[in-house]
Amino acid sequence: MWGSIISEWLSLIFRWLHVVAAIAWIGSSFYFIHLDLSLKPRQGLPDGVLGEAWQVHGGGFYHMVKYLIAPAQMPSELTWFKWEAYTTWLSGFALMIVVYYLNADLFLIDKSILDLTPLQAGLFSFGSLALAWLLYEAACRSGLARHELPFAIGGYIFLVALTYAFTHVLSGRGAFNQIGAIIGTIMVANVFALIIPNQKKIVAALLAGEAPDPKLGKAGKERSVHNNYLTLPVVVLMISNHYPLLFATRYNWVIVAIVLALGPVIRHFFNERHKGRPSPWWVWGIAAAGMIAIALLSAAGPRDAKGEAKSASAPDTPTFAQVEEIVLSRCSMCHAAEPVWDGIITAPKAVLLDSSEHIQRNARLIARNAAWSSAMPPGNITEITPEERAVLAAWASNQD
Ligand code: HEC
Repeated sequence: MWGSIISEWLSLIFRWLHVVAAIAWIGSSFYFIHLDLSLKPRQGLPDGVLGEAWQVHGGGFYHMVKYLIAPAQMPSELTWFKWEAYTTWLSGFALMIVVYYLNADLFLIDKSILDLTPLQAGLFSFGSLALAWLLYEAACRSGLARHELPFAIGGYIFLVALTYAFTHVLSGRGAFNQIGAIIGTIMVANVFALIIPNQKKIVAALLAGEAPDPKLGKAGKERSVHNNYLTLPVVVLMISNHYPLLFATRYNWVIVAIVLALGPVIRHFFNERHKGRPSPWWVWGIAAAGMIAIALLSAAGPRDAKGEAKSASAPDTPTFAQVEEIVLSRCSMCHAAEPVWDGIITAPKAVLLDSSEHIQRNARLIARNAAWSSAMPPGNITEITPEERAVLAAWASNQD
C-alpha cells in the first residue's frame, strides 16, 4: 500500500513542479519573442543597440533596449534564463518515470498493439527519445537548418513519421506522451546544448576584450525559432492524456499531425501581430478547420486489435444484463470499492463500476473511455474485445 501512496505523492509533486516550471519557461519565452519582434530602431540609441521598446506593467514603465550581438563591455550583473527550461525537463522526466515507466503495463504498453514487456517498452521509449534528439541535433549542426522552409517541412514529416511509428508500438496514450517528451527534450536541449553555451562564449569573448562571433548569436536565434513553433503542440500533447478521444481512437496519429501543423500556424498570427504587421486573421479559419477535423477524427471509434479493419457488429439495443456482464468482467477488478487488481488500492479516479447502479450512472464515462475509444481498460490489460466495445457503444448511444 505504501508504495502506491508514495508514488501518488511523487506524481503530485513532480507534476506541480513541472507545470510551474513550464509556465515560467514558456511565459518568459513568449515574452522575449514579443519583445524581440516589437523592438524599433531610432536615431540616437547607443552604439550596438538594435532597437528599443517601451512597456507598461505593474505600476511602472519599462524602457527596453536590445544589444546585438553584445554591449561593448560586460555589465556588472547579468540575469540568465535557463533554469526554467532545465527544471521543466528534469521534473517532466521524473514524472514520466513515475507515471509511465513504473506503470508501463498500464500506460505505456497496449498488448493489442504490441506485446512488450515493461522493460522493453521502457528501453524503447528512452532509446527513441535519445535517438530522435541526436538526429535533430545532427541535422541542425550539419547546416540543414539554415534552409528554413525545407527544414521545417522535413522536421514536420520526421515528427509525424515518429508519431505513426509510436502509435504502432506503444499504447495511444504512451505514444502521445512519447512524441510530446521528444519535442520537449529537443526544446530544452536547444537551451542546454546550444543557446546557453553560445551565450557563454559570447560573454567570454567580451571579457577577453574581443568581438564575439556573430555566428554564435545567429545559431542561438535559429533554435529559438524552432522552440517558438514547437511550444503550442508540446502543450497539447502533454495534456492529451486526459482526453481518451484524442489518444485512443483510430486516427490518433493523424490528430497529432494536425496539432503539429496548427501550432506553428497559430504562432504565426501572434508573431506577425507583435511585429506590428497586419494581423493574419485567416490563421483562425485554418485553426478552426483543424479543430473541426480533429473532432471528426476523434469520433472514428477505437482502433481494432492489431489494426485490422473489422467492423464489430453489435445488437442495436443490447440488454443491460449484457452491458453489466462486460463491465463487471473487464472493469470492476480495478473500479471497485476494494479493487482486486494488484497495485491498485482504491478505485482509479474514484470511478466505481461494480454494481448496476454505478454502471448506469457512469454511462458517459464508460462510453468515452471504453466504447468510443480504447483508453480503458488501460493497455487492454483485461482483453476486452471489439465486439464488447460495440455493445457498450450501442448501449451508451441509447442512453441520451
Ligand atoms: C487494470 C485496472 C483497470 C481496469 C481493468 C480498468 N481501469 Fe479504468 N482506470 C484505471 C486507472 C489506473 C485509471 C486512472 C488513469 C489515469 O490516471 O489517468 C482509470 C481511469 C478510468 C476512468 C476515468 C477517466 C478520467 O480521466 O476521468 C474511467 C471512466 C474508467 N477508468 C473506465 C473504465 C472502464 C469502462 C473499464 C472497463 C472497460 C476500465 N476502466 C477498466 C484502471 C483500470
